[in-house]
Amino acid sequence: MFPKPSSLLLIPSTMKNPIHLATPPLPCSIIVYFLILPSLFTHTNSKIQNHLERGSSLYVEDDSAFLISPDTSFTCGFHEIGKNAYGFGIWFTHSKNRTVVWMANRDRPVNGKGSKISLLGDGAMVLTDVDRSIAWETNTSNTDVVSAELLNSGNLVLKNPQGKILWQSFDLPTDTLLPSQTLTKGKKLLSGLRNGSFASGYFNLYFGSDNVLRLIYDGPEISSSYWPNPDLDVYTAGRTNYNSSRFAFLDDMGRFYSSDRLQFNASDMGFGVKRRLKLDYDGNMRIYSLNNLTGEWSISWVAVTQQCNVHGLCGRNGVCVYAPEATCSCPPGYEVIDPRDWNQGCKPKFNRSCSDSQEVKFVELLNTDFYGFDLNFTRPISFNACRDICLMDCHCEAFNYRITGEGFCFAKSALFNGFHTTNFPGRIYLKLPGNVKVPEQIFFNRSNSICSAEAEVEVGSTSLYDTKEKRARWVYLYSFATAIGVVEILFFAIGWLFFRSHGLPDTVEAGYRMISSQFRRFSYGELKKATKKFTEELGRGSSGVVYKGVLTDERAVAVKRLGDAFQGEGEFWAEVSTIGKINHMNLVRMWGFCSEGRRRLLVYEYVENSSLDKHLFAENFLQWKERFKVAIGTAKALAYLHHECLEWVIHCDVKPENILLDTDFEPKVADFGLAKLAQRGSPGPALTRVRGTKGYMAPEWALNLPITAKVDVYSYGVVILEMVRGIRLSNWVVEDDKEEEAELTRFVRAVKTKNQNEEESSWLEEVVDPRLGGQFSKSQAATLVRVGLSCIEEDRNKRLTMDSVVQLLVECEDA
Ligand SMILES: *[C@@H]1O[C@H](CO)[C@@H](O)[C@H](O)[C@H]1NC(C)=O
Ligand SMILES: *[C@@H]1O[C@H](CO)[C@@H](O)[C@H](O)[C@H]1NC(C)=O
Ligand SMILES: *[C@@H]1O[C@H](CO)[C@@H](O)[C@H](O)[C@H]1NC(C)=O
Ligand SMILES: *[C@@H]1O[C@H](CO)[C@@H](O)[C@H](O)[C@H]1NC(C)=O
Ligand SMILES: *[C@@H]1O[C@H](CO)[C@@H](O)[C@H](O)[C@H]1NC(C)=O
Ligand SMILES: *[C@@H]1O[C@H](CO)[C@@H](O)[C@H](O)[C@H]1NC(C)=O
Repeated sequence: MFPKPSSLLLIPSTMKNPIHLATPPLPCSIIVYFLILPSLFTHTNSKIQNHLERGSSLYVEDDSAFLISPDTSFTCGFHEIGKNAYGFGIWFTHSKNRTVVWMANRDRPVNGKGSKISLLGDGAMVLTDVDRSIAWETNTSNTDVVSAELLNSGNLVLKNPQGKILWQSFDLPTDTLLPSQTLTKGKKLLSGLRNGSFASGYFNLYFGSDNVLRLIYDGPEISSSYWPNPDLDVYTAGRTNYNSSRFAFLDDMGRFYSSDRLQFNASDMGFGVKRRLKLDYDGNMRIYSLNNLTGEWSISWVAVTQQCNVHGLCGRNGVCVYAPEATCSCPPGYEVIDPRDWNQGCKPKFNRSCSDSQEVKFVELLNTDFYGFDLNFTRPISFNACRDICLMDCHCEAFNYRITGEGFCFAKSALFNGFHTTNFPGRIYLKLPGNVKVPEQIFFNRSNSICSAEAEVEVGSTSLYDTKEKRARWVYLYSFATAIGVVEILFFAIGWLFFRSHGLPDTVEAGYRMISSQFRRFSYGELKKATKKFTEELGRGSSGVVYKGVLTDERAVAVKRLGDAFQGEGEFWAEVSTIGKINHMNLVRMWGFCSEGRRRLLVYEYVENSSLDKHLFAENFLQWKERFKVAIGTAKALAYLHHECLEWVIHCDVKPENILLDTDFEPKVADFGLAKLAQRGSPGPALTRVRGTKGYMAPEWALNLPITAKVDVYSYGVVILEMVRGIRLSNWVVEDDKEEEAELTRFVRAVKTKNQNEEESSWLEEVVDPRLGGQFSKSQAATLVRVGLSCIEEDRNKRLTMDSVVQLLVECEDA
C-alpha cells in the first residue's frame, strides 16, 4: 500500500483515554465501559468536564484532563502523535481505536511534558509548549469569551457570557467533516501525510473558483484535480457551477448535500449512526460509520471507487497498479527514489539527451496512462504519425495511443498521475534511449484484471508490432477444448425460473441515469425475512445461489448469496456501490446489498420471464421480432457497460442464461460487475480463476492474453448466432468419423461457403432456425450473421466494438 507510517508517528497502543483508565484492558473493556460510563459522569469527577473556564488550563501530563461532550460522544484533549509529541484534538469517545477528527496543531506537535492548553484572561485559547512558545492560538484575544465547551456535535466552541459563539473548531476543519459541520467558501479538508500521520498532506477538498466541490492533489511539483472525473464536464458529472453560495454538509441521517448539486447518501442512511466524512491520506474521501457494539468503523461511502484514479499517488513517473490493493510501481527504465515516500516518484535510470546521436526506442505499456501534461493532442492519426510526433519533440517523454474508434494521440511532456488498469483502452509508449535494458518478463504483476483470469501486461519488445495476438490463429477453434480443459471451469447455468411479479411499476426509463439514491444496504435479517429464510431457490451460478424474495414494500427481488470468495468489507462496498450506480433499461438493476460479518448478498430487481436460453432452445421459442429485439437490447447494455459507464465494466460471462427477459421480452443483462467483485475479494487464484462459460469464451482466455472488453464482444457474437440458428452453437458434435468440432465451427463454415456461392436469400434459408418456418426479416438475419461473424473473429482487433454493433443493428431495426 502507500507509504507506511514511520515508527515515530505510530499511534501508541497505550492511549490516554478515560476508557483505559477506568476499566481493565481490551477486549472486555468496551463492554464494561458501556456499563460504567453513566456512573462515571454522574458521580462528577472534577477533571472530566465539558467546559473550560476562563483562566484555567488542561495539562499534557494530566491523564484525566479532558473535555467530554454532554452525551459523551466526543472527547477533547491531548493526544500522543509521536514519541513524546502531542497534539490538542477532538476524538470519538466510543470508538475502539482512537479516531481523531480535529487537531489544533497537526503540524506543530508539543512536548509531552510542560505543555498546556489555556483559556487566557483575555479570551484567547492558547496551546503553549514546554518552552512557553505558542504552538497554536485562537483569534479571540481581547474578547469577552468566558468558557470553552465541547458540544455533542464534536464542535469545540468559545462562548461569551451571553452564550454567543465567538470561535468554533468547526470553522477550521483538518481532514474530517462531522455531521452538521459545514464546508463553505474558504474552508477545506486537507488529508494527512501518510497512514496514521496527522501532519498535513497533499490532498484537498474545497470549492473551486468555479463553485464546484473538488478533490485535488496539490503536491510539491504539480496540482491536479481528479474528482469529479476531470474527463467529464461539470454538468455531465452531475454538478453545476451556477450556485456561488459554496455550501456543503453531511446531515445526521448520512445524506450529503452541496450547493453544486452534488448529493449522495451513506449506504446505511438513517438516524442513530455516528458517521464522519474523512479525506484520507490516500486522496480518497470516505464516509465511515461507527458500529456502536464493536466500536469499529466501516466504510459507508467512497468518492473514488477506483483508487488509482486519484492523482498524485505515485509521484513523477510512478504508476499506480492494483496488486490487488492499489500500489505504486515504476515503469521499465525507471527506479523508485524512496520506497517509503512515493511522492518523490521514480527517477530514470538513464540520462535524457536531445542530441541526434542518441538512439531512441519506445516501450509499450498496455492499459496504462499518465494523466495530463499533454504536449499535443491529435486525432484521427495513425500510430506511426503519433510516434513521429513524440520522436521529433525533445520534450516528449512518452505518448499515449488509443485505438478505440479513430486513433487518439497524446504526446506527454511529463509523466504524472500514472495508472494501470486493464479496463483502460489506451497504451503508453515510453521513449527510452536505445541502450536502456528493459526486462523481458512481465512488468506489472497480476493486477486488477477485471475478469479473473491470468491477465497480464506485456512490455513491448523493441518491435512495437510484434504482439502475441498476431500469432494467434484459427487453430483455436479446434484446440480450444484441450487448452481450456486444463483449467477448471465451473459451469452452472443461472436458472432464473418462471414466477410472477407483484405489480412492479413498469419503469419507462429513457436509457440510463445515475440512481444512487435508490441503492441501499440491507440487513441480513431483512433479507432473511424477504426470502422466507432462503426457501425459494431460483438458480445457482458459480458466484452463488439466487433466491426469490419480496421486500416489505412489496417489491419482488432476486437475492444472490455470494460464495466465500467475496470478502473485504471496504472494497466490497466500493465495488458494489459502483455496480449499484449502473442503471440502464437493459441491465438488471441492483437495488442493494448486505454485508455482515462474512455474509455477502446482493439484491436485484426481479425479472419476470426467465432467461433467454429458456426461450430459445426450448419448445416455446421466440419469434423473430423478439429475437432481434433481444439482440439489440443486449448490445445496448454491453455498449453501455463498455463505453459509457463512468467505471468501465467488462461482463466476462455473456451467455443466454445471463440475459433475462421481462414481460415484453425486453432483455436485461444480469450478473455484470461480478467478475470484478470476486477478484477484488479473493487473495489469490480462487475458485473463480476463470469466469466465463465454455463455448462462449473468447480465445484470449485460453491463450493467456490480457482480457479486454473484446471478450464480451466474442460471447455476444456466439449468442446472436445462436439466436439466428436456434440451437446451442456452443455444443460439440461429432462430424462423421472425424474429430469433434463445435457447432459454431460448423455453422461458420457453412455460412462462409454458402455465402460465397449463392444469392443472399437462399443461403439464409438454410442457416436460420427452421422452426421459424421462414417467418423472419432477411435483412435483419443477414445483418445478425454478418455482425456475429465479425464478433467472433479470432483476432480481437478485428472484432467490432459493442458501439458499432449497436449502430449496425439499429440501422436495420423495424421502423
Ligand atoms: C476568528 O476567525 C473566524 C474565521 O476563521 C471568524 O469567523 C471569526 O469572526 C473570528 N473571530 C474574531 C473574534 O475575530
Ligand atoms: C493504516 O495503518 C493501520 C495500522 O497502523 C492499518 O491497520 C491500516 O490497514 C492501514 N490502512 C491502510 C489503508 O493501509
Ligand atoms: C444554492 O445553494 C444553496 C445551498 O445549498 C441553496 O440554499 C440555494 O437555494 C441554491 N441557490 C440556487 C439558485 O439554486
Ligand atoms: C446503536 O446503533 C443503532 C443503529 O445502528 C441504534 O438504533 C441504537 O440506538 C444504537 N445504540 C446506542 C446505545 O446508541
Ligand atoms: C548521467 O550523467 C552523469 C553526469 O552528467 C553521469 O555521472 C552518469 O553516470 C550518467 N548516467 C548514465 C546512466 O549514463
Ligand atoms: C512481481 O512478482 C515478483 C515475483 O513474484 C516479485 O519479485 C516482484 O517484486 C513483483 N513486482 C512488483 C512490481 O510487485
